[in-house]
Amino acid sequence: MSEPTLPPELVEALQGVRSVGAITGAGISAESGIPTYRGVGGIYDDPEEGHSTVEALSGPTLLRDPDRTWRAVAALARHTIDATPNAAHHALARMEQALERFVLLTQNVDGLHRIAGSRNVIDIHGDVLATRCTSCETRTRLTRVELAALDATPPCPDCNAHLRPDAVLFEELLDPRKVLRMQEAFYREPPDLVLVVGTSAMFPYIAEPVHVAARCGRLTIEVNPEPTPLTNVVGTSLRGPAGVYVPLLAAALGADGD
Ligand code: APR
Repeated sequence: MSEPTLPPELVEALQGVRSVGAITGAGISAESGIPTYRGVGGIYDDPEEGHSTVEALSGPTLLRDPDRTWRAVAALARHTIDATPNAAHHALARMEQALERFVLLTQNVDGLHRIAGSRNVIDIHGDVLATRCTSCETRTRLTRVELAALDATPPCPDCNAHLRPDAVLFEELLDPRKVLRMQEAFYREPPDLVLVVGTSAMFPYIAEPVHVAARCGRLTIEVNPEPTPLTNVVGTSLRGPAGVYVPLLAAALGADGD
């Protein structure tokens, strides 16, 4: 099978790009060994555990039965213990270095973008290793090993009250400061290119920046082995894995591999 390539007309169109807004979901970490939530092998689509996992990872469950939520977060963390950034994460970090303006809106809580070197990151769902105290607001960080080993709610090191994950659970609100950063980055002056990688695009705050970019005549590209609700919105849909196509896009944007 020949090596995948980008359509020549897309390579041509990318020559004028000076600013990129990337939007990522669990799919960009699939090649790092972290299962996605939905789709083939998705955690939520597990016939036995799926529904229960979603319920456990919700704000109401955290209030009612925090140990259950922490056990579900620990189970997710066990998937990330040995995960390292893949070629797609590194390619996005190179784009940030090479381009005049780059912003990364990620739904992922696995921390792999920062480990790969991305800096201008809007982690809209937070960071699963970060915790905050439900009483004194103290913020601490757990290691992946500490988190993966949890089977009950960890106590605050300062006041002994319950810690909570500093991540957005189901039925919880987003951090308004991060929403504002996203609106600034994607709405005030939409990037020349909006690149959507590895997301089922089920949340409006993830799909909307792509719609805005398309309406403003910006380049819009989706990288996903499967079609999504954005497939008919974007200008180009690259039907394949992030680890293959994102490095090709980085090279076309002048951010070649090391
Ligand atoms: N490369 C690119 N995309 C991939 C790959 C891959 N190798 N493998 C799978 N995908 C795609 C799937 O086709 C799917 O469209 O990644 C997407 C993963 O979708 P979800 O599992 O729904 O993950 P995501 O879109 O990030 O979910 C959004 O929902 O559960 C909440 O907070 C959670 O952040 C998560 C949010």
